[in-house]
Amino acid sequence: MRTIAFVTQKGGSGKSTIASSLAVAAHEMKEKVCVIDMDPQGSLANWAKTRASSDIEVIASGAARLPALLSSLERRGFTLAILDTPGAEGAASSAAMQVADLNIIPSRPSMFDLWASARTRAALKEIGGDFVFLLNQCPPAQQTARVQDGVETLEEMGGLISPLILTRVDYQESARHGWGVTELNPYGAAAEEMRGLWQSVKRRLARAKVRQPARKAA
Ligand SMILES: Nc1ncnc2c1ncn2[C@@H]1O[C@H](COP(=O)(O)OP(=O)(O)OP(=O)(O)O)[C@@H](O)[C@H]1O
Ligand SMILES: [Mg+2]
Repeated sequence: MRTIAFVTQKGGSGKSTIASSLAVAAHEMKEKVCVIDMDPQGSLANWAKTRASSDIEVIASGAARLPALLSSLERRGFTLAILDTPGAEGAASSAAMQVADLNIIPSRPSMFDLWASARTRAALKEIGGDFVFLLNQCPPAQQTARVQDGVETLEEMGGLISPLILTRVDYQESARHGWGVTELNPYGAAAEEMRGLWQSVKRRLARAKVRQPARKAA
């Protein structure tokens, strides 16, 4: 089983939105997916209730229980765990960073978000965690100087995963129904983005070092 975590203390950058749609896209591409909601806000636990289907298991967990939970998911044959974390530094995001094979740091193309991303990156570097940045909520006219600045800054900071994710109503509309964008509008541009993102994450995971000492010790 591989574990990916959406982390950044910057609230509203799109952790829960992308985590849910990516979970659905990966599920459609034959992964056995469990989403772990580590945010007391419970965005994805609520998403699961609205979803009214158990095809993707969503489990709420705090930091202390995480290693044992991951071990049990592995035993149950899950192939992918997606961790959603709170928009604040603390035990939950630290625990997620510790166990993730790959950390995804979503950032909007604004200086405040980019600066916040640098802090998350520093925390990950300190523990030797693997990470990529994801530029989310880009304006529809992609080639703006602001997006270009974001792309360059994040590339310099250690790697930007493709594709860029644009601001699209499909992301908001799908969350309202407990769906992913690939279910709401399978042929839409947002669906294309999420399938592309899963392919990129998969390629990246194939290269990432396996990071499971905490889990094995549990
Ligand atoms: N690509 C996108 N297009 C349109 N809306 C988006 C997109 N990404 C996120 N949003 C919207 O931005 C808001 C914040 O997103 P989300 O709740 O996923 O962020 P978060 O990082 O999980 O925040 P928190 O740290 O508070 O948990 C939501 O209203 C969501 O619908
Ligand atoms: Mg959230």
